[in-house]
Amino acid sequence: MRIAAVVTAAGSGSRLGAEFPKALVPLAGRELVVWAVLRIADACDEVVVTAPTSHLAEFEDALRGLPALDGKRIRVISGGAERQQSVSAALDVLFAEGQPAPDVVLVHDAARGFQDPSVTRAAIAAVQDGADGAIPVVPVVDTLVESPSCAGTLGQSVDRDQLRAVQTPQVFAGAALRAAHLAHADASATDDAQLVRASGGRVVAVAGHEWGFKVTLPSDLPLAEHVAQVLLSAESQNALERQAP
Ligand code: CTP
Ligand code: MG
Repeated sequence: MRIAAVVTAAGSGSRLGAEFPKALVPLAGRELVVWAVLRIADACDEVVVTAPTSHLAEFEDALRGLPALDGKRIRVISGGAERQQSVSAALDVLFAEGQPAPDVVLVHDAARGFQDPSVTRAAIAAVQDGADGAIPVVPVVDTLVESPSCAGTLGQSVDRDQLRAVQTPQVFAGAALRAAHLAHADASATDDAQLVRASGGRVVAVAGHEWGFKVTLPSDLPLAEHVAQVLLSAESQNALERQAP
């Protein structure tokens, strides 16, 4: 079974406000996109990363020769103006003629660089068990209300127990994802599950993880740096244990 991943990293990160693309922000000395690729790499055979056209060389440099990738093929391509177009561009590469089409495709936000690998494995297993798609979801922690009116009157309360926040990687049967993107090329979906469901696909939920948070605002960076440091220490510890007689 051929499993491919699309890592979307072509956004500018306007809400983060850095002077370079969000996916190149260093965390514990490694770019966010590198964390994102490394955290899913065990689960897939190849990766296509969508990057801003202005920074392709920087992305290629960051992702070149990472030992943990064990020779897996990583391609960096130009993304589109919207996330959906970036994913479509990556699917064009993965489903190009003359190569075996992937059976399963993960779509993962570089901005969620630290997702726990157990979440990825669970989502892949759900698709291997027959779902068209599987997406990680987490409970909503805040009390929720509908948007206030123009006059500022508070909207109705919303029962948060009925809602979930969606993370990535979202995992799909490759053919279902490809067909959904081709059928709904004019939509502007913020995730791929919307497209697969619009095509009649059955998408199931798996439990997400708190480390699947998305780096969006400057205030997300201290948590991201902390998690990166924790993961780096665990890597060093594992390397020491492997060296021990
Ligand atoms: N993304 C992409 N192509 C785009 C827009 C977004 O590949 N045209 C990617 C981003 O790089 C990110 C993921 O989609 O990894 C989720 O998007 P978001 O968190 O909104 O990132 P940005 O669009 O970069 O941030 P902002 O909306 O604050 O500008
Ligand atoms: Mg965005």
